Amino acid sequence: MNSKSSSWRSPSNIALVKYWGKYEPQLPANPSLSFTLKESYTETKLEIQEEISEADFDFEVYLDYRKADNFKPKIEQFLKRIESELDFLKGHKFSIHTYNSFPHSSGIASSASGMSALALCLLSLSPEGQKLSESEFYRKASEWARLGSGSASRSLFGGLGLWGKTEGIAESSDEYAIPYAGKVDPVFQDFKDTILLVEKGQKAVSSTAGHGLMNGHPFAQERFAQAHRNMASLQSILAKGDLEAFGELVESEALTLHAMMMSSRPYFLLMKPNTLQIIEEIWNFRRETLKPLYFTLDAGANVHLLYPASIEQEALDFVNSTIKGYLKNGEYICDQVGPGPTKL
Ligand code: PMV
Repeated sequence: MNSKSSSWRSPSNIALVKYWGKYEPQLPANPSLSFTLKESYTETKLEIQEEISEADFDFEVYLDYRKADNFKPKIEQFLKRIESELDFLKGHKFSIHTYNSFPHSSGIASSASGMSALALCLLSLSPEGQKLSESEFYRKASEWARLGSGSASRSLFGGLGLWGKTEGIAESSDEYAIPYAGKVDPVFQDFKDTILLVEKGQKAVSSTAGHGLMNGHPFAQERFAQAHRNMASLQSILAKGDLEAFGELVESEALTLHAMMMSSRPYFLLMKPNTLQIIEEIWNFRRETLKPLYFTLDAGANVHLLYPASIEQEALDFVNSTIKGYLKNGEYICDQVGPGPTKL
Protein backbone atom coordinates (compact mmCIF):
# COMPACT_ATOMS: atom_id res chain seq x y z
CA MET A 1 0.00 0.00 0.00
CA ASN A 2 1.20 3.53 -0.75
CA SER A 3 2.16 5.59 2.24
CA LYS A 4 -0.69 7.90 3.20
CA SER A 5 -0.46 10.83 5.51
CA SER A 6 -2.43 13.75 6.85
CA SER A 7 -1.21 16.85 8.71
CA TRP A 8 -3.18 19.41 10.70
CA ARG A 9 -2.51 22.38 12.92
CA SER A 10 -5.08 22.72 15.70
CA PRO A 11 -5.26 25.34 18.45
CA SER A 12 -5.67 25.19 22.19
CA ASN A 13 -8.62 26.95 23.82
CA ILE A 14 -9.39 28.65 27.10
CA ALA A 15 -12.79 28.10 28.72
CA LEU A 16 -14.83 31.06 29.94
CA VAL A 17 -17.55 28.83 31.42
CA LYS A 18 -15.72 25.73 32.62
CA TYR A 19 -16.33 22.04 32.01
CA TRP A 20 -15.66 20.23 35.26
CA GLY A 21 -17.43 16.92 35.83
CA LYS A 22 -18.30 14.22 33.30
CA TYR A 23 -19.93 10.86 32.82
CA GLU A 24 -19.30 8.02 30.39
CA PRO A 25 -18.49 8.14 27.47
CA GLN A 26 -16.79 11.46 28.19
CA LEU A 27 -19.99 13.50 28.21
CA PRO A 28 -20.04 16.80 30.11
CA ALA A 29 -21.99 17.39 33.31
CA ASN A 30 -22.58 20.99 32.17
CA PRO A 31 -22.15 23.09 29.03
CA SER A 32 -18.98 25.13 28.47
CA LEU A 33 -17.87 27.95 26.18
CA SER A 34 -14.30 28.85 25.23
CA PHE A 35 -12.16 31.24 23.24
CA THR A 36 -10.18 29.40 20.58
CA LEU A 37 -6.55 30.52 20.77
CA LYS A 38 -4.28 31.49 17.89
CA GLU A 39 -0.62 31.13 18.84
CA SER A 40 -0.87 28.06 21.12
CA TYR A 41 -1.34 25.10 18.81
CA THR A 42 -0.23 21.57 18.01
CA GLU A 43 0.86 20.38 14.57
CA THR A 44 0.38 16.68 13.98
CA LYS A 45 1.26 14.44 11.06
CA LEU A 46 -0.22 10.97 10.95
CA GLU A 47 1.46 8.68 8.46
CA ILE A 48 0.27 5.20 7.61
CA GLN A 49 3.33 3.05 6.98
CA GLU A 50 3.78 -0.62 6.22
CA GLU A 51 1.30 -3.46 6.52
CA ILE A 52 1.85 -5.70 9.52
CA SER A 53 0.91 -9.29 10.15
CA GLU A 54 -1.31 -8.53 13.18
CA ALA A 55 -5.02 -7.95 12.65
CA ASP A 56 -4.93 -4.84 14.83
CA PHE A 57 -2.88 -1.68 14.25
CA ASP A 58 0.33 -0.51 15.82
CA PHE A 59 1.74 2.99 16.14
CA GLU A 60 4.59 5.13 17.45
CA VAL A 61 4.35 8.66 18.82
CA TYR A 62 7.03 11.32 18.39
CA LEU A 63 7.15 14.75 20.02
CA ASP A 64 9.62 17.15 18.39
CA TYR A 65 11.18 14.18 16.48
CA ARG A 66 11.82 12.23 19.69
CA LYS A 67 9.93 9.08 20.53
CA ALA A 68 7.37 9.90 23.23
CA ASP A 69 6.11 6.61 24.66
CA ASN A 70 4.63 8.49 27.64
CA PHE A 71 1.82 9.80 25.35
CA LYS A 72 0.91 6.33 24.10
CA PRO A 73 -1.51 5.24 26.87
CA LYS A 74 -3.76 8.32 26.49
CA ILE A 75 -3.75 7.95 22.68
CA GLU A 76 -4.41 4.20 22.96
CA GLN A 77 -7.40 4.90 25.19
CA PHE A 78 -8.70 7.43 22.65
CA LEU A 79 -8.22 5.07 19.69
CA LYS A 80 -9.98 2.31 21.61
CA ARG A 81 -13.00 4.58 22.06
CA ILE A 82 -13.35 5.14 18.28
CA GLU A 83 -12.07 1.68 17.32
CA SER A 84 -15.19 0.73 15.37
CA GLU A 85 -14.49 3.65 12.99
CA LEU A 86 -10.82 2.80 12.43
CA ASP A 87 -11.07 -0.29 10.23
CA PHE A 88 -8.96 1.48 7.60
CA LEU A 89 -6.00 1.38 10.00
CA LYS A 90 -6.27 -2.30 10.89
CA GLY A 91 -3.29 -4.40 9.83
CA HIS A 92 -1.10 -1.30 9.48
CA LYS A 93 1.60 0.45 11.38
CA PHE A 94 1.43 4.24 11.57
CA SER A 95 3.38 7.08 13.10
CA ILE A 96 2.13 10.20 14.87
CA HIS A 97 4.55 13.15 14.79
CA THR A 98 3.57 16.13 16.92
CA TYR A 99 4.99 19.53 17.64
CA ASN A 100 3.61 22.14 20.07
CA SER A 101 4.07 25.86 19.42
CA PHE A 102 4.25 26.51 23.16
CA PRO A 103 7.21 25.47 25.30
CA HIS A 104 7.19 21.81 26.26
CA SER A 105 5.87 21.24 29.80
CA SER A 106 4.95 24.91 30.09
CA GLY A 107 1.89 23.89 32.05
CA ILE A 108 -0.33 24.75 29.08
CA ALA A 109 -2.79 21.98 28.43
CA SER A 110 -1.66 20.36 25.19
CA SER A 111 -4.52 17.86 25.33
CA ALA A 112 -7.07 20.20 23.65
CA SER A 113 -4.78 21.09 20.74
CA GLY A 114 -3.14 17.65 20.57
CA MET A 115 -6.33 15.57 20.61
CA SER A 116 -8.15 17.85 18.16
CA ALA A 117 -5.18 17.72 15.74
CA LEU A 118 -5.07 13.93 16.00
CA ALA A 119 -8.83 13.59 15.49
CA LEU A 120 -8.56 15.74 12.35
CA CYS A 121 -5.71 13.63 10.93
CA LEU A 122 -7.59 10.38 11.58
CA LEU A 123 -10.84 11.65 10.09
CA SER A 124 -9.06 13.05 6.99
CA LEU A 125 -7.62 9.59 6.30
CA SER A 126 -10.82 7.70 7.02
CA PRO A 127 -12.92 6.73 3.96
CA GLU A 128 -16.04 7.81 5.88
CA GLY A 129 -14.52 11.19 6.74
CA GLN A 130 -13.69 11.83 3.11
CA LYS A 131 -17.38 11.61 2.22
CA LEU A 132 -18.50 14.30 4.67
CA SER A 133 -19.34 17.91 3.84
CA GLU A 134 -17.12 20.52 5.51
CA SER A 135 -19.53 21.22 8.38
CA GLU A 136 -20.21 17.49 8.93
CA PHE A 137 -16.46 16.88 8.90
CA TYR A 138 -15.70 19.38 11.68
CA ARG A 139 -18.66 18.18 13.74
CA LYS A 140 -17.46 14.58 13.50
CA ALA A 141 -13.87 15.64 14.25
CA SER A 142 -15.19 17.45 17.33
CA GLU A 143 -17.02 14.30 18.44
CA TRP A 144 -13.84 12.25 18.06
CA ALA A 145 -11.71 14.91 19.75
CA ARG A 146 -14.14 14.88 22.69
CA LEU A 147 -13.43 11.20 23.17
CA GLY A 148 -9.71 12.04 23.41
CA SER A 149 -10.11 14.94 25.81
CA GLY A 150 -13.42 16.68 26.54
CA SER A 151 -12.15 20.23 26.14
CA ALA A 152 -10.56 19.28 22.77
CA SER A 153 -14.05 19.14 21.25
CA ARG A 154 -14.17 22.97 21.37
CA SER A 155 -10.88 23.49 19.49
CA LEU A 156 -12.35 22.63 16.07
CA PHE A 157 -13.93 26.04 15.52
CA GLY A 158 -12.58 29.56 15.37
CA GLY A 159 -13.72 32.33 17.72
CA LEU A 160 -15.87 30.74 20.39
CA GLY A 161 -16.57 27.00 20.76
CA LEU A 162 -19.62 25.77 22.64
CA TRP A 163 -19.85 22.22 23.98
CA GLY A 164 -22.80 20.71 25.81
CA LYS A 165 -26.57 20.93 25.63
CA THR A 166 -27.42 24.57 26.29
CA GLU A 167 -30.90 25.95 26.85
CA GLY A 168 -32.04 28.10 23.93
CA ILE A 169 -29.40 26.74 21.51
CA ALA A 170 -31.13 23.93 19.63
CA GLU A 171 -28.02 22.73 17.74
CA SER A 172 -25.94 22.37 20.93
CA SER A 173 -25.01 18.84 21.97
CA ASP A 174 -23.17 16.89 24.61
CA GLU A 175 -21.64 14.72 21.85
CA TYR A 176 -19.73 17.44 20.01
CA ALA A 177 -19.02 21.16 20.15
CA ILE A 178 -20.39 23.74 17.72
CA PRO A 179 -19.12 27.15 16.67
CA TYR A 180 -20.89 29.73 18.83
CA ALA A 181 -23.40 31.39 16.50
CA GLY A 182 -24.91 33.99 18.85
CA LYS A 183 -24.28 37.71 18.48
CA VAL A 184 -20.77 38.69 19.57
CA ASP A 185 -19.69 42.30 20.00
CA PRO A 186 -16.58 43.09 17.88
CA VAL A 187 -14.58 43.80 21.07
CA PHE A 188 -14.36 40.03 21.66
CA GLN A 189 -13.24 39.13 18.14
CA ASP A 190 -9.55 39.82 18.74
CA PHE A 191 -9.59 39.55 22.54
CA LYS A 192 -6.15 39.02 24.02
CA ASP A 193 -5.02 36.18 26.29
CA THR A 194 -1.58 36.67 27.80
CA ILE A 195 -0.70 33.38 29.45
CA LEU A 196 1.35 33.95 32.59
CA LEU A 197 3.53 30.91 33.29
CA VAL A 198 3.60 30.51 37.07
CA GLU A 199 4.59 26.90 37.01
CA LYS A 200 5.91 24.45 34.46
CA GLY A 201 5.73 20.70 34.41
CA GLN A 202 3.20 18.04 35.25
CA LYS A 203 0.13 18.90 37.33
CA ALA A 204 -0.16 17.26 40.75
CA VAL A 205 -3.66 15.95 39.91
CA SER A 206 -4.72 15.15 36.34
CA SER A 207 -7.94 16.65 35.00
CA THR A 208 -9.30 13.11 34.53
CA ALA A 209 -8.96 12.53 38.28
CA GLY A 210 -10.40 16.00 38.97
CA HIS A 211 -13.50 15.37 36.85
CA GLY A 212 -13.94 12.07 38.69
CA LEU A 213 -14.02 13.85 42.03
CA MET A 214 -17.16 15.74 40.96
CA ASN A 215 -19.01 12.42 41.37
CA GLY A 216 -20.53 12.62 44.81
CA HIS A 217 -19.09 16.11 45.36
CA PRO A 218 -21.31 17.89 47.92
CA PHE A 219 -21.65 21.03 45.74
CA ALA A 220 -21.80 19.32 42.33
CA GLN A 221 -25.48 19.82 41.53
CA GLU A 222 -25.40 23.50 42.46
CA ARG A 223 -22.22 23.98 40.42
CA PHE A 224 -23.77 22.37 37.33
CA ALA A 225 -26.89 24.54 37.71
CA GLN A 226 -24.68 27.63 38.09
CA ALA A 227 -22.80 26.76 34.88
CA HIS A 228 -26.13 26.64 33.01
CA ARG A 229 -27.07 30.07 34.43
CA ASN A 230 -23.66 31.47 33.50
CA MET A 231 -24.02 30.18 29.93
CA ALA A 232 -27.26 32.13 29.63
CA SER A 233 -25.74 35.32 31.14
CA LEU A 234 -22.60 35.07 29.01
CA GLN A 235 -24.65 35.03 25.82
CA SER A 236 -26.19 38.43 26.56
CA ILE A 237 -22.82 39.78 27.81
CA LEU A 238 -21.15 38.75 24.53
CA ALA A 239 -23.93 40.35 22.50
CA LYS A 240 -23.77 43.63 24.43
CA GLY A 241 -19.99 43.79 24.74
CA ASP A 242 -20.37 44.41 28.48
CA LEU A 243 -16.74 44.04 29.60
CA GLU A 244 -17.35 44.56 33.29
CA ALA A 245 -20.00 41.83 33.45
CA PHE A 246 -17.74 39.62 31.29
CA GLY A 247 -14.86 39.99 33.75
CA GLU A 248 -17.03 39.29 36.77
CA LEU A 249 -18.52 36.15 35.26
CA VAL A 250 -15.22 34.79 33.94
CA GLU A 251 -13.26 35.41 37.16
CA SER A 252 -16.06 33.83 39.18
CA GLU A 253 -16.01 30.75 36.91
CA ALA A 254 -12.23 30.40 37.38
CA LEU A 255 -12.40 30.68 41.16
CA THR A 256 -15.38 28.31 41.32
CA LEU A 257 -13.43 25.69 39.32
CA HIS A 258 -10.65 25.85 41.90
CA ALA A 259 -13.13 25.97 44.79
CA MET A 260 -14.53 22.65 43.50
CA MET A 261 -11.02 21.16 43.67
CA MET A 262 -10.47 22.48 47.18
CA SER A 263 -13.79 21.11 48.42
CA SER A 264 -13.68 17.62 46.88
CA ARG A 265 -12.63 14.52 48.83
CA PRO A 266 -9.74 14.05 48.56
CA TYR A 267 -9.24 17.81 48.27
CA PHE A 268 -6.43 19.33 46.27
CA LEU A 269 -5.00 22.69 45.36
CA LEU A 270 -3.51 23.59 41.96
CA MET A 271 -2.99 27.33 42.56
CA LYS A 272 0.40 28.41 43.88
CA PRO A 273 1.23 31.42 46.08
CA ASN A 274 2.25 33.34 42.94
CA THR A 275 -1.13 32.60 41.34
CA LEU A 276 -2.79 34.45 44.23
CA GLN A 277 -0.22 37.26 44.15
CA ILE A 278 -0.96 37.80 40.46
CA ILE A 279 -4.72 37.83 41.07
CA GLU A 280 -4.21 40.49 43.78
CA GLU A 281 -2.08 42.55 41.39
CA ILE A 282 -4.75 42.32 38.67
CA TRP A 283 -7.39 43.54 41.12
CA ASN A 284 -5.08 46.40 42.25
CA PHE A 285 -4.39 47.36 38.64
CA ARG A 286 -8.11 47.44 37.92
CA ARG A 287 -8.91 49.49 41.02
CA GLU A 288 -6.22 52.03 40.14
CA THR A 289 -6.69 52.29 36.37
CA LEU A 290 -10.33 51.19 35.83
CA LYS A 291 -9.05 49.28 32.76
CA PRO A 292 -10.86 46.07 31.67
CA LEU A 293 -8.14 43.56 32.56
CA TYR A 294 -9.41 40.21 33.89
CA PHE A 295 -8.12 36.72 34.60
CA THR A 296 -9.17 33.15 34.17
CA LEU A 297 -7.50 29.93 35.28
CA ASP A 298 -7.23 26.48 33.79
CA ALA A 299 -6.76 23.34 35.87
CA GLY A 300 -3.31 24.56 36.95
CA ALA A 301 -1.34 27.41 38.52
CA ASN A 302 -0.95 29.56 35.39
CA VAL A 303 -3.02 32.70 34.96
CA HIS A 304 -4.67 33.75 31.68
CA LEU A 305 -4.88 37.52 31.44
CA LEU A 306 -7.89 38.49 29.30
CA TYR A 307 -8.35 41.98 27.86
CA PRO A 308 -9.49 43.85 24.75
CA ALA A 309 -6.89 44.67 22.09
CA SER A 310 -7.40 48.40 22.78
CA ILE A 311 -5.49 48.17 26.10
CA GLU A 312 -2.73 45.83 24.88
CA GLN A 313 0.10 48.29 25.54
CA GLU A 314 -1.02 49.07 29.12
CA ALA A 315 -1.56 45.36 29.80
CA LEU A 316 1.91 44.38 28.57
CA ASP A 317 3.51 47.28 30.50
CA PHE A 318 1.71 46.00 33.62
CA VAL A 319 2.97 42.44 32.99
CA ASN A 320 6.56 43.61 32.47
CA SER A 321 6.63 46.01 35.41
CA THR A 322 4.54 44.21 38.04
CA ILE A 323 3.93 40.56 37.10
CA LYS A 324 7.15 39.28 35.53
CA GLY A 325 8.81 38.64 38.90
CA TYR A 326 6.09 36.11 39.81
CA LEU A 327 6.65 34.03 36.64
CA LYS A 328 8.91 31.02 36.07
CA ASN A 329 11.93 32.49 34.28
CA GLY A 330 9.80 35.61 33.67
CA GLU A 331 8.01 33.75 30.86
CA TYR A 332 4.62 34.50 29.35
CA ILE A 333 2.91 33.77 26.02
CA CYS A 334 1.07 36.44 24.03
CA ASP A 335 -2.02 34.86 22.55
CA GLN A 336 -5.43 35.96 21.33
CA VAL A 337 -8.67 34.65 19.90
CA GLY A 338 -7.93 32.71 16.71
CA PRO A 339 -9.46 31.18 13.61
CA GLY A 340 -9.48 27.42 14.36
CA PRO A 341 -7.63 24.50 12.72
CA THR A 342 -5.71 24.53 9.44
CA LYS A 343 -4.92 21.60 7.15
CA LEU A 344 -1.18 21.59 6.43
O1 PMV B 1 -10.45 18.21 28.63
P1 PMV B 1 -9.99 17.89 30.01
O2 PMV B 1 -10.47 16.55 30.47
O3 PMV B 1 -8.51 18.07 30.16
O4 PMV B 1 -10.69 18.93 31.01
C1 PMV B 1 -10.31 20.26 31.07
C2 PMV B 1 -11.16 21.04 31.98
C3 PMV B 1 -10.77 22.50 32.18
O5 PMV B 1 -9.68 22.86 31.35
C4 PMV B 1 -10.37 22.74 33.61
C5 PMV B 1 -11.96 23.40 31.87
C6 PMV B 1 -12.35 23.49 30.44
O6 PMV B 1 -13.57 23.62 30.21
O7 PMV B 1 -11.49 23.51 29.55
